[in-house]
Amino acid sequence: MTLRLHDRVAIVTGAAGGLGRAIAARFAAEGADLCLADLLDLSEVVAAVQAAGRRAIGVQADVSDSAAVAAMVERARAEFGRVDVLVNLAGVGSHGASDDVTEDEWHRVLRCNLTSVFLCCQAVLPGMREQGYGRIINIGSLLAKNGGNPRPWLDAQEQKRAGNLAYGASKAGVHALTLYLAKENAHLGITVNAVAPGPIGSNPRLLNVFPDSLKAQIPVGRLGRAEEVADAVAFLAGDQAGFVTGEVLDINGGSWCD
Ligand SMILES: NC(=O)c1ccc[n+]([C@@H]2O[C@H](COP(=O)([O-])OP(=O)(O)OC[C@H]3O[C@@H](n4cnc5c(N)ncnc54)[C@H](O)[C@@H]3O)[C@@H](O)[C@H]2O)c1
Repeated sequence: MTLRLHDRVAIVTGAAGGLGRAIAARFAAEGADLCLADLLDLSEVVAAVQAAGRRAIGVQADVSDSAAVAAMVERARAEFGRVDVLVNLAGVGSHGASDDVTEDEWHRVLRCNLTSVFLCCQAVLPGMREQGYGRIINIGSLLAKNGGNPRPWLDAQEQKRAGNLAYGASKAGVHALTLYLAKENAHLGITVNAVAPGPIGSNPRLLNVFPDSLKAQIPVGRLGRAEEVADAVAFLAGDQAGFVTGEVLDINGGSWCD
């Protein structure tokens, strides 16, 4: 059986998190070598990829900082010679409705979730154009599409946790950026897609954040699994997905159908 990512080189940002670990494991199983980036220590996830028989480096970097992003891409090229795949996964959550979100919080979330994606794409695209091949997968969100889950008439406290104004706006920006980059680069062998997960049980911290009433509304009847997101990302990262570009793929258990 041919591996989907045989000898491809991928950068995965936000790789120390729940989804990052699952994507790193899946990419390694599909034959990729990995440059893993995060603010946090990456030694565990690097060791897991190496134990699976692939090469991996960990780069501690703030991907909302252009100099750090340039250094990360340089490091990947120096180690592996090229970058075939970029997965923009690094991101932060944010709670609050319009009255609660401060200007500082707004800028923090936009910088971490949207500016970072722009900077990483801008840093890898020249090399991808030169080699005539590239796959970019951005992680968006259901919350960019559905206006969040506020139902203050049912539970005012739940409203506080269900409002995600800045987060939703940042991820909607990620979706739009994906479409623009897809069209700009479609004739150059480069695809740019997004996946938009609904609630995924990838992070023990988030498990307590998702209210039971929200879980109860998911038509499939459960939270998503990190491996299910990783599987979709691996498909979009593969050679076989060359005719798929500008797609925002929902992975939300039927929570929002469009
Ligand atoms: N888990 C879900 O339900 C869900 C749903 C929709 C979208 N998402 C998105 O998927 C992505 C990963 O989610 P997760 O569940 O693995 O979360 P997570 O918090 O476990 O992982 C996110 C990782 O990104 C890193 N990070 C944050 N800002 C960074 C920066 N500036 N530079 C470098 N690294 C940075 C964090 O250190 C963390 O390791 C996020 O973008 C999130 O918004 C998650």
